[in-house]
Amino acid sequence: MLKISRFTVESLSSGCVTDNEKPRFSYFVESDKQEVVIKNATLSMSNGWQKNTVEQIGVTYDGEGLDAFHQYTVKLEVSNNYNETAVAELTFETGRMLSEWKSKWITDGAYHFKEAKVSPKTMTFRKNINCSKEIRCAKIYVTAFGIYELMLNGEKVGEDYFAPGFTSYRNQLQYQTYDVTGQLQEKNCLVVVVGGGWAVGSFTYKRRNRVYAKRQALLAELRIEYCDGTKEIVGTDETWSVTEEGNFRETEFYNGEVYDATVDLDQIQWRKAEQEQIKISPKIMAQYGVPVRAKEQFEPICCTHTKGGMLLYDFGQNFAGVISAEIRGKKGQKITFRHAEILMDGKLYTEPLRTAKQEAVYICEEGMQQYSPRMTYMGFRYVEVTGIEEQDLRITAIALYSDMEENGKFSCSNKLLNQLQSNICWGAKSNFVDIPTDCPQRDERMGWTGDIALFSSTATYNFNMGRFLEKWLLDVKAEQTRGGGIPVTVPLVRVPLQWEIMIPMAVDHWGDACILVPWAEYRARGDKNLLKKMYPTMKRYMKACKFWAQLFSFGKHRRIWRLLHHYGDWCAPEVSMWGWMGRGKWTATACLAYSSGIVAQIAEILGEEKDAKEYAALSKETGDAYRSILMKEDCSVKKEFQTAYVLPLYYEMLSTSDKKQTAKHLSRMIRENNYHIGTGFPGTPYVLFALADNGFAEDAFRMLLTDTCPSWLYEAKVGGTTIWERWDALREDGTCNTGEGDGTGGMVSFNHYASGAVGDFLYRRIAGIEPLEGGYKRFQIKPLMGGKISWAKGEVLTAYGKVSSSWKIENHIFCIDIEVPVGATCQLVMPSGEQQLLASGSYHFEEEERNRENEHESNI
Ligand code: BGC
Repeated sequence: MLKISRFTVESLSSGCVTDNEKPRFSYFVESDKQEVVIKNATLSMSNGWQKNTVEQIGVTYDGEGLDAFHQYTVKLEVSNNYNETAVAELTFETGRMLSEWKSKWITDGAYHFKEAKVSPKTMTFRKNINCSKEIRCAKIYVTAFGIYELMLNGEKVGEDYFAPGFTSYRNQLQYQTYDVTGQLQEKNCLVVVVGGGWAVGSFTYKRRNRVYAKRQALLAELRIEYCDGTKEIVGTDETWSVTEEGNFRETEFYNGEVYDATVDLDQIQWRKAEQEQIKISPKIMAQYGVPVRAKEQFEPICCTHTKGGMLLYDFGQNFAGVISAEIRGKKGQKITFRHAEILMDGKLYTEPLRTAKQEAVYICEEGMQQYSPRMTYMGFRYVEVTGIEEQDLRITAIALYSDMEENGKFSCSNKLLNQLQSNICWGAKSNFVDIPTDCPQRDERMGWTGDIALFSSTATYNFNMGRFLEKWLLDVKAEQTRGGGIPVTVPLVRVPLQWEIMIPMAVDHWGDACILVPWAEYRARGDKNLLKKMYPTMKRYMKACKFWAQLFSFGKHRRIWRLLHHYGDWCAPEVSMWGWMGRGKWTATACLAYSSGIVAQIAEILGEEKDAKEYAALSKETGDAYRSILMKEDCSVKKEFQTAYVLPLYYEMLSTSDKKQTAKHLSRMIRENNYHIGTGFPGTPYVLFALADNGFAEDAFRMLLTDTCPSWLYEAKVGGTTIWERWDALREDGTCNTGEGDGTGGMVSFNHYASGAVGDFLYRRIAGIEPLEGGYKRFQIKPLMGGKISWAKGEVLTAYGKVSSSWKIENHIFCIDIEVPVGATCQLVMPSGEQQLLASGSYHFEEEERNRENEHESNI
């Protein structure tokens, strides 16, 4: 039987409200038959548009202009080579489609917020609305400068946190659409709380504030359709009231929240809201990113009473989120919840938070009550509570992150590796909070470009990153300077300078996010539209790179990066920050060779042949320059460090014979280092590939399985539940490496996903699953055995459906079960080297194991 198992518009199966004039459709099917081929698919939309296609990804609507505020139904009919057909239907809604808002930006005109470095007071807006007739449909469209929370008749509207989300507000701002048909009554009270958030609040380690607006502002429009056919619009204007005396006394991402439950909104002073003059004019668009939502809930694994009479809860997992508390309290009782990632001497250790307080303070009303922060989040595993007895409190914790589908699974016979896989996923979840952040706890949580550039491939194995990355990449595109540079963090959180060209240009993997991230996403999901959109940005960035790399240099030296600011081998162990940055010449040059090679491939995919040649030549020249200037005749690098070998190997910058030699040097270095990791951000994702793909698989496994510091499994072995920023964040002697005096300003986080990029190796080599063509249209399964691993399973829900590889070794027989989705082909390479080309279906293969005697542990 043929079944359409997924049918999406703009990557959503349901609930899509879009302003995209050309929405994209994708689908995949399942079948109980082998070798299914889709013969035709027809999309028909309720406005008469029809399209026949065999494409399954990103089929773009190309009919007449869509109407605003309209619901469309789309039918999909698919037929296959067995003459079977399947039908599916979806509905989506258009948003405002740029139609003018019938409402005004409002604020509290009497509130003049001038203080530096702090967050503004929280504004609460209110409006009473009467609806005397029967309602057919009511929707509210809302956005703000700041972050908002909407309440109708005392109940929260929607499930989103931190709406409207973080974008490059100067360029684009999202609005959300909520259906409130069921919530509206005859007499209604609409309350909107607006905190400073990213736009106005204190943000970045420099504690900048008022970056996008001088104070908060709100824009909302409630559109009601009555059963008698009449319509009404209630928009924000001067008839709304505003106060700073509401329940939320303080709200900020870093410091947390102070909530006073004793405040009665009917007893406080309200002022008339005033129209706000907004100085920037972003394009206001229906939500196109992934909203932050409440996800996993954790019960504490223990509660201890500290010497100072405080309660200390351990949630067993480090993550980003908030507590949720059931409280028996007395009116005016003040309860404080402090959060931290680790303990030292049995106490919360908050040193790594720097200026972030990560505190929630709750002032009780009388009796039983519920509290969970709504306008902030913390990075934590431990919570210390003061002001309440244990028996009066029931506490849980909620993970908050962008609501992306988990689309990958990896497990194997080694328990610590499974813990590493879990740590990688939690590192990701904790840092996908509306934008890809570096960390969720200290006074940073910013969109550092390098972190996601290096992690994006692993991210796409574990999550469906489509909407999340596309949203962020739109900001990357928008933040590109006139000179072609990409800032080090996106969205940019600084007041724009007159001379845009002066914004420090991120190079050396950081700026390359504009190439590496869309490329990783394309490989995973296969939508060429994203490549098309980002291609001009990539080209301009390449042009800028070329210009800066060759400035004041001659001959081959023109391809060796010297100028500009490099993060280099960021976070490599046993080197200070200056040491990491001093490696920039190597890392940046290698990166230029790699990125230009990728742009050449992208140009080819997009049919830009001339460009393809040009970028391929740039890549080759840069690779040659690295070889001849930065390496010696015998392929050793002039300044030896692991990353300096890893990059030219993985980035394919060397001839076959040079590769062999280079890999030997890398293997030597790694053996000398007793299989410990020596790489920073740029080398870490690739070091195991550089070894395993060049004849040193055994070294790769030994390195992966090393569990003394510095190594991936050391973190897992000593109880880490996420990925750390520094390999020795917690040293073997139990002390914390806060980076004292190494130039980083006390930089240590226990939740930084970057080094978790090793996750790629688990999927691509151990499970052996690797796309060969965008979206896994063609992919490879080629498991790599080693490290006494006796079984492994990898599963990825690709754009064509489920790809899986599950292998085990039993009694010297290697067995593998494989799933190939319809529309894709798999190139299977068995450990013996035997190859097969497989069309869709499920398969089982076996072969005798070779040259591996008694090496495998039984399942641990
Ligand atoms: C961040 C990193 C980031 C780096 C830039 C740090 O403070 O936490 O993850 O990439 O700065 O080098």
